[in-house]
Amino acid sequence: MTDYSKDYSKDFPILEKEIYGKRLVYLDNAATSQKPDSVIRTLSEFYRSDNSNIHRGVHYLSEISSERYEKARAKVSDFIGADDPGEVTFTAGTTDSINQVACSLKPILEGNEVLISGVEHHSNIVPWQLAGAKLRAIPMDEDCNLLPDSIEITDRTKMIAISHASNVLGSVNPVKEITEIAKEHDVPVLVDAAQSIQHLPIDVRDIGCDFLAFSGHKMYAATGVGVLYTSERFSDIMPSRGGGGMIDRVTLERTTYLKPPLRFEAGTPHIAGAISIGAAIDYMQNIGMDHIRKREHEVYSYAREKLLGTDGVTVYGNTDLMCGSISFNLDEIHHYDTGLILDKLGIAVRTGHHCAQPLMRTLGTEGTVRASFALYNTKEDADRLLEGMEKVRMMYA
Ligand SMILES: Cc1ncc(COP(=O)(O)O)c(C=O)c1O
Repeated sequence: MTDYSKDYSKDFPILEKEIYGKRLVYLDNAATSQKPDSVIRTLSEFYRSDNSNIHRGVHYLSEISSERYEKARAKVSDFIGADDPGEVTFTAGTTDSINQVACSLKPILEGNEVLISGVEHHSNIVPWQLAGAKLRAIPMDEDCNLLPDSIEITDRTKMIAISHASNVLGSVNPVKEITEIAKEHDVPVLVDAAQSIQHLPIDVRDIGCDFLAFSGHKMYAATGVGVLYTSERFSDIMPSRGGGGMIDRVTLERTTYLKPPLRFEAGTPHIAGAISIGAAIDYMQNIGMDHIRKREHEVYSYAREKLLGTDGVTVYGNTDLMCGSISFNLDEIHHYDTGLILDKLGIAVRTGHHCAQPLMRTLGTEGTVRASFALYNTKEDADRLLEGMEKVRMMYA
């Protein structure tokens, strides 16, 4: 039988820290996750022994760096079930990935429509607006769950862009159902996997999406690096940025571009960051994504049930499949005050609108307290959160 009680926090040096004399309980993983020792060592060893620019040199170090960078790409490709590493582009993160798609497709999107959901992060709203598209939200039920059967696709719908999991509610959206509907209308689908890649096994072929975006730093790797999966059928879209490394031939009159992935990687990428994603994938795969999902589910459900059973607490969202984030408020107590007091108790949560202002309007609140979980969090962490909230309440009684 699988042992769900293993303490993975030992792999994460920062989690040994005490904050205000108390063991750190880190519940701000949706903002960024902590890094295991293996990822920290990979980053440091890369700069100590292999650092060089990639793809452009004939010398030894450049070949080693290029090889490590491409190996990381192949690992990502395998991890998300892509057909070919050529479908994987390293970007600066989820925000950058979505902006790149919006910018490349601007001529098609301008004056037309992008379907999103009402739970999106601003990163999956603003890039489409900048590309000149109008946004329409897929209808939701009272728990903010999408209703795929109510999707209305018109001639002007040129993209469906949906988060896989909400960074506020933790609800997992029915992305596969949505891509199936989109396919009937030949509309491309972008999935924002910023809040799912670290929690659930993901297979782009199974989901059937055309684009998948995620960030390294939320999946135990470095900041400033991310991934954009682009399915082969979009391999010839115009690159959104130009520069070194992505061209076939340049003249002053005209430039031709390489095939993906290099076509979409202008300039020097975050080489060490990409390699750190490879190391993070190794770390997660050694544990097993199914194991991570089940273990996290135990802790997540435990915390959620306890919160739901606490008087004077409103917990937002509710669906069968949830992961990562739980948002709530204590009656009559501002989310910011709750967060400040929890911090003094060594518990790191996030408060505010979580870059999801349209969702906050739907929930009828300016902000929430968000506790977000990772594979190293335990039921003891959830208990510390609950105890902390009790103290907050006593202070405001
Ligand atoms: C659902 C979702 N999409 C996009 C982003 C943006 O990610 P990044 O800031 O790493 O680009 C976030 C960050 O919290 C997110 O939760």
